[in-house]
Amino acid sequence: MQTHLRGRDMITTQEWTKDELDTVLDVALDLKRRRALGEPHALLRDKVLAMLFFFSSTRTRASFEAAMAQLGGHAQFIESKSTQISHGDTATEIGEILGRYNDGLSIRQVDWGVGNRYIRDVAAASRVPVHNMQCEQFHPFQVLADLLTIIERKGDPRGLTMNVSWAYAQSYQKPLSVPQSLILLMTRYGMNVRLTHPPEFKLLPEMLDQAQANARDAGGSFEVLDDFDAGFRDADIVYPKSWGCMLTTPDPDESAKIGQNYSDWIADERRMALARDDAMYLHCLPADRGIEVTDAVLDGPQSAVFDEAENRLHAQKAVLALTM
Ligand code: CP
Repeated sequence: MQTHLRGRDMITTQEWTKDELDTVLDVALDLKRRRALGEPHALLRDKVLAMLFFFSSTRTRASFEAAMAQLGGHAQFIESKSTQISHGDTATEIGEILGRYNDGLSIRQVDWGVGNRYIRDVAAASRVPVHNMQCEQFHPFQVLADLLTIIERKGDPRGLTMNVSWAYAQSYQKPLSVPQSLILLMTRYGMNVRLTHPPEFKLLPEMLDQAQANARDAGGSFEVLDDFDAGFRDADIVYPKSWGCMLTTPDPDESAKIGQNYSDWIADERRMALARDDAMYLHCLPADRGIEVTDAVLDGPQSAVFDEAENRLHAQKAVLALTM
């Protein structure tokens, strides 16, 4: 267990050692148990977290705010458009100033080519830890919750086969952050990770290289497939979700049009039957019901999406308590 995490930023899981990530999982399970028992755990009494959102959220906002309240502190919700950011407040000013009012800064900024840079610029100017609540490249808290759910349900993740797959959606061109963060984290835990997508829906090549290196170091494997059904075959965990084809075109309308060629990439009962009998279905949500996944799968016995969403709370409380 690592005990020197105070002040650390959480921008990607890749920047934390395996031992440090194990500490997060351990603390998350402890805090989950303490909440279930009704044991007070006001570890951040009198501390304040600023949550700056440039994009909508259900789970992230609600779980971070609940996390701070349960830890005895307070979270202030700041919507970027209600601030003076569009009138000139730079990342440096946000880091310097909000860092002086608060004990932690958490940011969601998913604009392509902007978000990660912005969060890092704020972090460089901030005297308090900065947390990435999702950028265009990474969603660390989502995948920590995903890993916690896998460990709770399946035990030791080493050797499990996980299919991180593209699926069709119509709602919007979703960021690459979840699939990229999944292939980076799950390969570090010795899993056999498949990334399945149509040719136009590539992830950043450096993420694939890092995932390959992680798999080599951890004794797992990493492969890329382009056949939706093949990705499900004999998998222990399936995570079919949509993302945009930002590396093929920067135009969201064109991306949506390309996606229509793959509108049959829906997670349904036939595909689930290709996976192992005890395979688990995960999705970060929100999902396009009836388009990305059928109701029978999303609400079915193999779906762990509500435990997964709950684990956002516990994983985040662990990181907040350890870093703030
Ligand atoms: N999974 C997730 O990040 O959900 P929200 O976009 O609702 O926060």
